[in-house]
Amino acid sequence: MKKAFITGITGQDGTYLSKLLVEKGYEVHGGVRRISQSAMARLNALGVADKVQLHEFDLIEPNNLFRVLRDVKVDEFYNLAGQSFVGSSWELPIYTADVGAMGVVRLLDTLRSVHPETRFYQASTSEMFGLVAEVPQSETTRLHPRSPYGVAKTYGHYITMNYRESHGMHASSGILFNHESPLRGTEFVTRKITMHLAALARGGDAPVELGNMDAQRDWGFSGDYVEGMWRMLQQDKADDYVLATGVTTSIRDFFTYAAEALGLNPDWQGEGREEIAVDRKSGRQLMKVNPKFYRPAEVDLLIGDARKAREKLGWEPSVGIRELAEMMARADYDALA
Ligand code: NAP
Ligand code: GDD
Repeated sequence: MKKAFITGITGQDGTYLSKLLVEKGYEVHGGVRRISQSAMARLNALGVADKVQLHEFDLIEPNNLFRVLRDVKVDEFYNLAGQSFVGSSWELPIYTADVGAMGVVRLLDTLRSVHPETRFYQASTSEMFGLVAEVPQSETTRLHPRSPYGVAKTYGHYITMNYRESHGMHASSGILFNHESPLRGTEFVTRKITMHLAALARGGDAPVELGNMDAQRDWGFSGDYVEGMWRMLQQDKADDYVLATGVTTSIRDFFTYAAEALGLNPDWQGEGREEIAVDRKSGRQLMKVNPKFYRPAEVDLLIGDARKAREKLGWEPSVGIRELAEMMARADYDALA
């Protein structure tokens, strides 16, 4: 029986990955913070809470991390933990770097000392492309992060590569474009939209307040992306791979797809800070812009080129953007029944 350890096991991806690995027959271990924001909610939702072994764990606590990694010897190690909300990283740049940059080298250096043969996965991100050097973005695109989160992740990415090249460790990075699910954190724009639309569809009257409606993202389904992470660690040689759908969608279009899934029909009026969406049937206001949600800097046009993952890993996303919006909107609507 193979053994795996997942940091960030209580998060969206950690939960989908736990389910995948349990189904593949792995013994799954995970690190949980005492101050966890989500605790067991997601693991319970996917029915894996009692199938994984949890350890008290924090990426900013070096001795704790050393003891856990020394004692729980695993074949595969997935580092998914992080302060993952880009918007908060301008307010929490040092904490974001402590977890997202220093946390990675703490893990790699500990593994190098205690179990260097362990295969390591690092959760890198399309946020590293930032002010994009080319469209679409691939593994060879120059990095230019635009947020403290992206800068921290860029360190994590390069140090993973460095431990592979310097110490021969089987350390891979997945450069993952946005991926969502009904378990997505409620602060991220897709889930914020589907939760509010579900309340509106159930008769609520508070419009969703959003920021930059023109932002675009290459959105896929988390369940597909954790399969890609696992495939990376099954390769003989460690490497870096982009996972993406290759389709980009604006916040406005995602909103429309989710609204339509719930029988709402947004009419877009006004521009910029004055933009609103009104339901064509009921006349109710569904959305208004609140500049509080604008960011100090935005990433440019994110579209991923996942050809390498397709060719070397045989990985393909299975859920398109409309299906994703519908899945999330329906789940939030059903939860209000
Ligand atoms: P998520 O739902 O926010 O989960 C983050 C996880 O990290 C949670 O389990 C959280 O635990 C844990 N964590 C936070 N700080 C920690 C610390 N100091 N020590 C130990 N654990 C800590 O994020 P996600 O969407 O699953 O993403 C997983 C990883 O992939 C993240 O690193 C993210 O930055 C990266 N990524 C995500 C995407 C995406 O679109 N989802 C794309 C590219 C890369 P608590 O439950 O205690 O809060
Ligand atoms: N969160 C949020 N809330 N975003 C909004 C809002 C709002 O009210 N209104 C507009 N947006 C825009 C943001 O300005 C951004 O351009 C876009 O929606 C997506 O924001 P998020 O859903 O917060 O995700 P993200 O792209 O910043 O970050 C996610 O994807 C990265 C991969 O590219 C996170 O999962 C990161 O951890 C991940 O690395």
